[in-house]
Amino acid sequence: MLVTSIFKGAELSMLVPLMDRILNQKKIIVPDHLPEFLNKIVAQLNAIEPQALLTFLPFVILGMLLLKHGFVYLYQYLMNDISQQVMRDVRSQLYNKIQSQSMDFFSKKRTGELISRITHDVQLIENAVSYAVTDLFFQGFSILIYICIAFSIHFKAAAIIFLVFPLIALPISQLGRRLRKIAKSSQERMADINSILLETIGGIKVVKAFCTERFEMDRFHGKNHQFYKLKMKSIKRTLLTNPLTEIFGAVCAIIIILWLGRQVMHQELSFGVFVLFFASIMSTISPVKKMGNVNLLIQQALSANERIYEILDRQPTIQEKLDALELPTIRERIHFENVWFRYDEESGDVLKGINLEVKVGELVAIVGPTGTGKTTLANLIPRFYDPYKGRVSIDRTDIRQVTFRSLRRQIGIVAQETFLFNDTVRANIAYGCPQISQEDVESAAKKAYAHDFIMKMPQGYDTIIGDRGFRLSGGEKQRIAIARAIVKNPAILILDEATSQLDSESEKFVQEALDLLMQGRTVIAIAHRLSTIKKADKIVVLDRGQVVGIGRHDELLNSSPLYRRLYETQFQT
Ligand SMILES: Nc1ncnc2c1ncn2[C@@H]1O[C@H](COP(=O)(O)OP(=O)(O)OP(=O)(O)O)[C@@H](O)[C@H]1O
Ligand SMILES: [Mg+2]
Repeated sequence: MLVTSIFKGAELSMLVPLMDRILNQKKIIVPDHLPEFLNKIVAQLNAIEPQALLTFLPFVILGMLLLKHGFVYLYQYLMNDISQQVMRDVRSQLYNKIQSQSMDFFSKKRTGELISRITHDVQLIENAVSYAVTDLFFQGFSILIYICIAFSIHFKAAAIIFLVFPLIALPISQLGRRLRKIAKSSQERMADINSILLETIGGIKVVKAFCTERFEMDRFHGKNHQFYKLKMKSIKRTLLTNPLTEIFGAVCAIIIILWLGRQVMHQELSFGVFVLFFASIMSTISPVKKMGNVNLLIQQALSANERIYEILDRQPTIQEKLDALELPTIRERIHFENVWFRYDEESGDVLKGINLEVKVGELVAIVGPTGTGKTTLANLIPRFYDPYKGRVSIDRTDIRQVTFRSLRRQIGIVAQETFLFNDTVRANIAYGCPQISQEDVESAAKKAYAHDFIMKMPQGYDTIIGDRGFRLSGGEKQRIAIARAIVKNPAILILDEATSQLDSESEKFVQEALDLLMQGRTVIAIAHRLSTIKKADKIVVLDRGQVVGIGRHDELLNSSPLYRRLYETQFQT
């Protein structure tokens, strides 16, 4: 940077007086206060014949050009490399931070918003780092060099001109402040756009079924148009920086021409020096202009930076203790001791003083009306959430004392909704256990009654399942999820039975697969199937966050009116 700036200055400061010496055969005149070594160079140049100088000049130009561009290339390469590395690290850090957040974070933040921060906001910072920071130093340095040249040529004139400089800085910084506000709004609009995209492409079936394509198009266009308007608002202001600096440049030019031009006419100053001074002042205009644009990029980046730090600074609400223990494989029981839980202060308690014991190897069925907290209760076991009062323990160890890995390694979850990755069938089954063999994958698939339909797929286990498993039926998806749980081979199984009806053929397969999966494990089943309930060692009836009955099927039919009602209306035979 230093070298290229000096070259730029040197090119200018050498060429003009040299041309004057060659073409007009004039000696180079310099002010008396130049440093001694420059005086010596000038004296030598004055001694050389103009003809000899002319043959020497092309080589000087060529040499300087090569050197300059060599340095520029190297410098720009290095700067870009640094900025790309910074961006790569920011993206990864953001992703890591998002991944390490607790479940509550994801139910509060829109996915589109998070994606927007990793893509759009980081891009804004990239612009600033790769262009602005480079330019800030580069142009700043150029300006400094030209100022030095100008001062060494004509101190008084230079002093007057640079006194006017702050006049231009003021309106430009004012513009910058406005731009930062606009940038914040446009980043928010971009997050809206991303959210709509995700929701409407993910939920395309609902959109089609309700014929709301037009409505969604209009909604998208609305946000898109808001983004456009904000962008234009900021462009309108950005475009002002150039004329501002140009006008300032013109004022400088006028001062120089009127004042120094007169000195040239009175032979007090050589034409060569006049041109050199003029050129050095005019050369500052372009870097000043670029600095104005740098200001815009930096303001946008600062606003993006705030949004990124909002996430980077955020600590997960559920954290592992620093001295967390390794939880050994369950031997005795899972114990809920007077557990109280709520999602947030305003919405009130979801679980109210739950006491429940699940002995190892038991199948415990949890039943209750919809929205009573069955899924919530199950979510406390892998510590997706922490109770605010009471504790959940495994073999007498509070699960808040142990590492996530040692706890969650033991727990398999087959959830209400199956989620499959857009990857091969094999990768979906072996998720989290990438090192397992093909035989193990196949054996799990067989136990999950999935092998046969997988083999019928075009590439068998290597078939890619579309996003959210679009190419599979509901029952097939469930069986892949069951195979995944079999591969994990957890000691504790949490089974959240889907209420959606499968056709009886599919249902039979899923049921048999689940039966195999449950064998030999401690199972907490949020049950809707009568077959699961009848097999259970213990049925827990939950109502509005409280346990209102515990027992076997026959006992509860007599003792719990709620259970009887559920049995008559909800359980699928
Ligand atoms: N992430 C969340 N944030 C805030 N409230 C929630 C959240 N998840 C669930 N709830 C609320 O907590 C209550 C219990 O929900 P939960 O999912 O545990 O019910 P459920 O018994 O599993 O119902 P279902 O049988 O329909 O699955 C409901 O009132 C629900 O609205
Ligand atoms: Mg549920």
